[in-house]
Amino acid sequence: MIRVTNVSKVHRRGELEVWALRDICCEVPEGTFTFILGPSGSGKSTLLYLLGALDEPTGGEIVVDGRMLNRLTPAERDLYRRHDIGFIFQNFNLLSNLTAVENVLVPFMPVGLKRGQKEEAIELLKKVGLGDRLDHRPNQLSGGEQQRVAIARALLKRPKLILADEPTGELDTANSHAILNDLRVVCKERGSTVVVVTHEQEFVHADDHVIRIRDGQVFSGGASRQ
Ligand SMILES: Nc1ncnc2c1ncn2[C@@H]1O[C@H](COP(=O)(O)OP(=O)(O)OP(=O)(O)O)[C@@H](O)[C@H]1O
Ligand SMILES: [Mg+2]
Repeated sequence: MIRVTNVSKVHRRGELEVWALRDICCEVPEGTFTFILGPSGSGKSTLLYLLGALDEPTGGEIVVDGRMLNRLTPAERDLYRRHDIGFIFQNFNLLSNLTAVENVLVPFMPVGLKRGQKEEAIELLKKVGLGDRLDHRPNQLSGGEQQRVAIARALLKRPKLILADEPTGELDTANSHAILNDLRVVCKERGSTVVVVTHEQEFVHADDHVIRIRDGQVFSGGASRQ
């Protein structure tokens, strides 16, 4: 589904150049639960943002579903981000004055809700264990529950690809495992591909795909058993 070939990313801060990624190659096979695993500062978020076309590589090529991201026009990149990708971030990004259901629906509000979309939002919230929290606002939800709302929001547009940057970074271990399992179950049902950035080897299951990254370089990108 995703092929990354000889990709480098240099962040420039004034005179300073930081090589966040150096000539990396890796892939994300379709339908897999893939982890980008590595220590702090190794380039994990940089890679995830490149996959989501939130940023552009300094060199190299990223192909997603046969499309070369660096050849997309700005309008095509925008559509790719909005329709094809569900983003989940560490800090949930929920709107504090909206309920759980409204937060799931909010990306669709500017264009108008489609028939059945509210029911689907409720169904997704039930699937992630929030059936009795539908009308709660973020300050009435635990961190784990807020992240489940963010997951339901990312899933509602039925993206082929879910990109999550340390989605459990703020949560305790039990909650983290539960959330990743929810994500596994829903994505398996739908055949979505999921890429999750983490520091933690313990979240990786035997049949997950793992891209190990250190100092901006990939040192393995295969099944986790290898
Ligand atoms: N916008 C930026 N400007 C300058 N340097 C940056 C920028 N973003 C990231 N970097 C640098 O690039 C390197 C990789 O950063 P990145 O955020 O990808 O790491 P990470 O693996 O996600 O780390 P963490 O686990 O702490 O989130 C780091 O040295 C970081 O300081
Ligand atoms: Mg990061």
